[in-house]
Amino acid sequence: MPPFNLKETDKLLTTTRAVRRRLDFKKPVPREVILECLDISQQAPTGSNRQGWRWIIVTSSEKREALADIYRRGAGEYLVKSQDEAAANGDNQTERVYSSAQYLAENLEKVPVHVIPLIKVDHMAKNPPVTAWAGLMGSIMPAVWSFQLALRARGLGSTLTTLHLHNANEAQDLLCIPSEFMQVGLLPVAYTIGKDFKPAKRPPIQNIVSWDQWQD
Ligand SMILES: Cc1cc2nc3c(=O)[nH]c(=O)nc-3n(C[C@H](O)[C@H](O)[C@H](O)COP(=O)(O)O)c2cc1C
Repeated sequence: MPPFNLKETDKLLTTTRAVRRRLDFKKPVPREVILECLDISQQAPTGSNRQGWRWIIVTSSEKREALADIYRRGAGEYLVKSQDEAAANGDNQTERVYSSAQYLAENLEKVPVHVIPLIKVDHMAKNPPVTAWAGLMGSIMPAVWSFQLALRARGLGSTLTTLHLHNANEAQDLLCIPSEFMQVGLLPVAYTIGKDFKPAKRPPIQNIVSWDQWQD
């Protein structure tokens, strides 16, 4: 017998989507739920067991408005142009993603909670080698994903976004983040409208897996 209920576990892993249009802007999110999900995320791995993570939870409406403005300026024309490009190529899935991303950009301040994951960068050399970058991002993104999974299991949704990082310094000042911490994204968090999400279409696994050596 496997140690977990595989049906439920696999469902959680395969249906945790980037949620944007189905975020419930009206339903309050208790602080304890966010804290519980972040607490769970702290079981994620970190390089050298450094655990150099910090999390800023933004619920102030003024600060969410300011972050949304920073985000929209970061997005610029990118989302609209990418949507048009996908439509011209007949790529429906990508077109839907950009249309939904545009919706999020337009409504970001309405999402009740913004979560900003931070990772300590004070040990990084100038022009860091690839091992340092892999170690850095690999020491925060597993926790981010665990947080998103824990949210999903409780009926909340989120999306990992990075567009506000075009103006990361502005958010750094707004939230008084010390310079030795780097923001790696912004997760808008809310309860979802409905709980049913489906696995996305992805390429067949045999097209992207090689055994023992690279194969085209
Ligand atoms: C590194 C990274 C950066 C992302 N940045 C953004 C973003 O800035 N805005 C956004 O709306 N979605 C962003 N996404 C979400 C992706 O668009 C989304 O994960 C992808 O379209 C697949 O959809 P799914 O997660 O529902 O399968 C980002 C995802 C990742 C992994």
